Amino acid sequence: MADAFHRAGRWWLGHGLGPLLLRWWRRRGLRARVTMIGALGLIVAFILIDLLLFNALRVSLTRSVDDTARSGADQIASLLNAGHLPNPVPVTGDINVQVLDSYGDIKNASAGADRLVPIVSFAQAQALAHGGSAMLVQGAPFDMPSLLRVVVVHADAGYLVIAAVPFSETSGSLNVVARAMVIVTPLLFVAFTGAIWLVTGSTLRPIGALRRGAAQVTVTGVPADLPVPEARDEVRLLALTLNDMLSRLAAAQQRQRALVSDTAHELRSPIASIRTQLEVALDFPDSQDWATTARDVHADVLRLARLAEDLLLLARLDEQAGLAASNQSGASGGRPGVSPELARRGQPVDLDALSRSVACRYAEARVRVTVATPGAPAPDAAEVAEATVATGEAVTVHGVPETLERLLVNLVDNAVRYAKSSVVVAVHGDGAWAELSVTDDGPGIPAADRERAFGRFARLDDARSREGDEAGGAGLGLAIVRATARAHGGAAFLEAASPANPPAGDISGAGPGLRAVVRLPAARPSACSSRPPQARRDIVNLPRRT
Ligand SMILES: Nc1ncnc2c1ncn2[C@@H]1O[C@H](COP(=O)(O)OP(=O)(O)OP(=O)(O)O)[C@@H](O)[C@H]1O
Ligand SMILES: [Mg+2]
Repeated sequence: MADAFHRAGRWWLGHGLGPLLLRWWRRRGLRARVTMIGALGLIVAFILIDLLLFNALRVSLTRSVDDTARSGADQIASLLNAGHLPNPVPVTGDINVQVLDSYGDIKNASAGADRLVPIVSFAQAQALAHGGSAMLVQGAPFDMPSLLRVVVVHADAGYLVIAAVPFSETSGSLNVVARAMVIVTPLLFVAFTGAIWLVTGSTLRPIGALRRGAAQVTVTGVPADLPVPEARDEVRLLALTLNDMLSRLAAAQQRQRALVSDTAHELRSPIASIRTQLEVALDFPDSQDWATTARDVHADVLRLARLAEDLLLLARLDEQAGLAASNQSGASGGRPGVSPELARRGQPVDLDALSRSVACRYAEARVRVTVATPGAPAPDAAEVAEATVATGEAVTVHGVPETLERLLVNLVDNAVRYAKSSVVVAVHGDGAWAELSVTDDGPGIPAADRERAFGRFARLDDARSREGDEAGGAGLGLAIVRATARAHGGAAFLEAASPANPPAGDISGAGPGLRAVVRLPAARPSACSSRPPQARRDIVNLPRRT
């Protein structure tokens, strides 16, 4: 049945006036729709209430009139059965009585009642007496009040007692109530519908304010706070969420601007240098040492190429992080929290092997670069200075080998640049996590500046000149390290190599060293994760290239 109703509804919506009505309904605003649905509900409710009220009143009043007539008829029947019924029949109030014999003839009647014609026919009187019901009769033909409620009761010897009570007053009262309902109900309907319209409007007002605020942001292009309503409802939550989103967008916009300006600044120096060298060479071609010029220009071009490469890598890592975040929230169909590149190109990477292959490249470096075999706790500055480190077991992570290699190169580059005498790369696993650390015995970084070092284009040693400093980079190395660690589901941070003796504010002199730590999820948990790794004091010195 419900299915048939549903099918009929769908058919109607697809044919005739249905589609037109549907389109019209869909074009109405939320306020109009809510008001119309409320008004429809009010109409149904008012009609039902009016019908129920009127019917209850009518039944109650009619029953009271019928009871009066029946009790009068019963009294007369008792007198008749006792043989004491006077003529005319004695009655109280405005009740009229006729007594019919078993042939239907009027045997006796009250003073106001007709003595010739019965108010109801004999057959009707018998039916009413038998059924115990009452009926409405026009009294005018019998010279009685216009409307009468008639009740008939049996008496002995086949007699019937007909009692009629005027109904005009009751009927008049019911008419007054009905008229009042007809007038009051539409007024109430209009008042309630207006209230719904106003309440819906005031509920939607904060949304209008939000819309105006958002339009203002669109026009000015400056993210500003949207108005937050006082009511603690969903609109308030929406406004708070939008404000949070806008402030994040503003921060991202600000970062983007800073990045563009820093990038332009970084590009300017090598380009200006190339331009000057070429202009001088072209102006004085004969006195020019073309080989030197080519070498200098080549160095500047390499700087430019490295900058472009770093920026590209950062952009790619940012994009991967965004995709990983959308996987995390379930917005896309990928593996939760894993960037598509890691899912596609990721493979088990032995951090120990990676560390050794990277360290090999520093055989000719200014300071000695050693690798501690995995499982060993990260060495402190004293151990680094002595180049003595502990060893343990292999640690593997799931990652993109080239990107992890780049991460390690960035850390070792920094360490080699600042170390006093030695750099140690250590790998340590504790079951769920793999830890890769690069420790140097250089000046370190004050605790307050360590987070800043991860910023893009962040260079803490301001004394170092940007222009023409061969040793110094653009300040993107640690930013790439952190972005790579995050893309692999891990983290990167800096700490003093000797926590008990943190570096002072001056980083120019020798200090207790710096340890750059990268924590990555281990590819497979180690069986020995619960007990501390067995440390074997060992020195692993890589052969230096001459
Ligand atoms: N091992 C370290 N000891 C002391 N200071 C360091 C060390 N590593 C990094 N820093 C400081 O942190 C800053 C940021 O390092 P980061 O690697 O991001 O940039 P960079 O080395 O200057 O340039 P790039 O890596 O792009 O060539 C450095 O400029 C330096 O001031
Ligand atoms: Mg660097």
